[in-house]
Amino acid sequence: MCGIVGYTGPQSAVTPLIEGLRRLEYRGYDSAGIALGTPNTLFVEKRAGKLANLEEALGSASPEVHSGIGHTRWATHGGPTDRNAHPHLDNEGKLAVIHNGIIENYSQLKVELESKGHTFESDTDTESVAHLLSDLRKKHHGDLSAAMREAVQSLRGSFTLLAVHADDPETIVGVRRNSPLVVGLGVGENFMASDVAAFIQYTKRAVELGQDEVVTITPSSISITDLYGAEVAPREYEITWDAAAAQKGGFTHFMLKEIFEQPKAVADTLIGRLSDNNQILLDELHMNPDEIRALKKIVVIACGTAYHAGMIAKYAIEKWAKISVEVEIASEYRYRDPIVDSSTLVIAISQSGETMDTLMALRHAKASGARVLAVCNTNSSTIPRESDAVLYTHAGPEIAVASTKALLTQIIAVYLIGMHLAQVRGELSDQEVAHLYSQALELPGKIESILETVEPIRELTRKFAKSETVLFLGRNIGYPVALEGALKLKELAYMHAEGFAGGELKHGPIALIDSEIGTPVIAILPAGHEHGLDEKMLSNIQEVKARGARVIVIAEEGAMVVGAEHVIRIPIAPPIFQPILATVPLQVFAYEMAVARGNDVDQPRNLAKSVTVE
Ligand code: F6R
Repeated sequence: MCGIVGYTGPQSAVTPLIEGLRRLEYRGYDSAGIALGTPNTLFVEKRAGKLANLEEALGSASPEVHSGIGHTRWATHGGPTDRNAHPHLDNEGKLAVIHNGIIENYSQLKVELESKGHTFESDTDTESVAHLLSDLRKKHHGDLSAAMREAVQSLRGSFTLLAVHADDPETIVGVRRNSPLVVGLGVGENFMASDVAAFIQYTKRAVELGQDEVVTITPSSISITDLYGAEVAPREYEITWDAAAAQKGGFTHFMLKEIFEQPKAVADTLIGRLSDNNQILLDELHMNPDEIRALKKIVVIACGTAYHAGMIAKYAIEKWAKISVEVEIASEYRYRDPIVDSSTLVIAISQSGETMDTLMALRHAKASGARVLAVCNTNSSTIPRESDAVLYTHAGPEIAVASTKALLTQIIAVYLIGMHLAQVRGELSDQEVAHLYSQALELPGKIESILETVEPIRELTRKFAKSETVLFLGRNIGYPVALEGALKLKELAYMHAEGFAGGELKHGPIALIDSEIGTPVIAILPAGHEHGLDEKMLSNIQEVKARGARVIVIAEEGAMVVGAEHVIRIPIAPPIFQPILATVPLQVFAYEMAVARGNDVDQPRNLAKSVTVE
């Protein structure tokens, strides 16, 4: 939610700022703006809409100055207009602020500041910080860092803030609370941003910031303090992926590139996890065998697509490790009185590691005495930092707003957790685990083969592009796949799409089938014949077909399918691994549908990649 970038150094600042914003646009794209540190005053330009509007407004007119801050917005307080776009200024036009998050006590601050003579120009919560900082900077004799330290003590909510003042334009001050901010260390130049993607082309040296730490950068220095001015030693780390990973690499969209990166992402997350003596290697869990044997319950907390990975975790962990697993939507979990204690392991799944709903649920679980394990794709982000242990997925940077490769790697991560717990608890023998692991190792090649034959899916989308509703059916571990197929279609194609458990159909949803329009139904046929689930799904297919549905079936090679208008074949795999394969054609379907309907694939309307507000 909102992307933030700051630059100070020898370059003409507008270049790294605009490039940085382009790479952060996935975080929000309702408006964009920059403030450049021109001496005595600030040069500010901001525009509603995508970054391109700001670039057009800037033309070649931006001044050649060497520091500044930039913002790309996902609107919370105040509509997406020029006026509400960041940066926001104090009344002298000399101090500029950009913000990601929500200042919860902004209305109270506004009343206080107005009573002191400040006038407000926008409807945002952010502007109150610009006025507050302006007063405090005067109180601290021009020291913007000291002003920021004092300001933050009176702010409630979640925020990353960057500020610059025209009297000292080379200095940029930032702070974070429950929102991301990283520093990039260059040679004679320094950066700040919501995400390393913003400055990866200039430096791979980054510094992570803790909660309520205030950071001040100039071209040649960086200083970090807590809110009371005590120095904090910089925690430097090396960024392990390169700039090319954040480029489209010849694909028309990031989403398509990321779909095609899935074989590698799955392999990278999976490989090297089995020892020579057939033990699953998951030292990251930081749990000894006694602790694993003492586990009574697992609770998975996550949102959106990551929640679907959590649902798959339930099937795998309960089947293999025989531990009861509850899966909770993080935003709901937080406001309940969950029954957890030290024998509960809470698994927080998050691609970004910054999702506020998941973070708050994690804190709630920790406060209730649970041990928390993060499954995360983003190094040093808040969720892993606040967890007791972290298992990183290796999807690489996911830029498209719709999650694809991150999901598949999350599923792999929970399979590994399930195998490890089962092995330590003696529920699976070493041979069984080794066999499962070797079957999992075949998945990247199988995904590859699905991706080689996506043309029929393209044709299919052309046929159904004008439909307004698509229903998805799954059973057992195919049920979360159906939910994921529907979610992808909603967010990308803006179509009404719903996923159902096949058995639930007759309890209500079947009324949605309209014989006049031939409602499209996509059914995921369960793999194998366990519990006769494949036959039950074939019956569901007949039921919807008899009521006029047009049925598309995702089925493994060789499986008998009756009643389908189209069959999309996927390679044979053990039923528990089927979600890894069955999800892929659904991603391609949603992608192609969005393209066919002329939608913005990488930046679907109203969304943002990293949801850092509740
Ligand atoms: C859907 C999607 C979202 C995210 C959700 C959680 O394609 O991307 O539903 O899965 O916002 O995000 P993370 O995994 O970053 O916590």
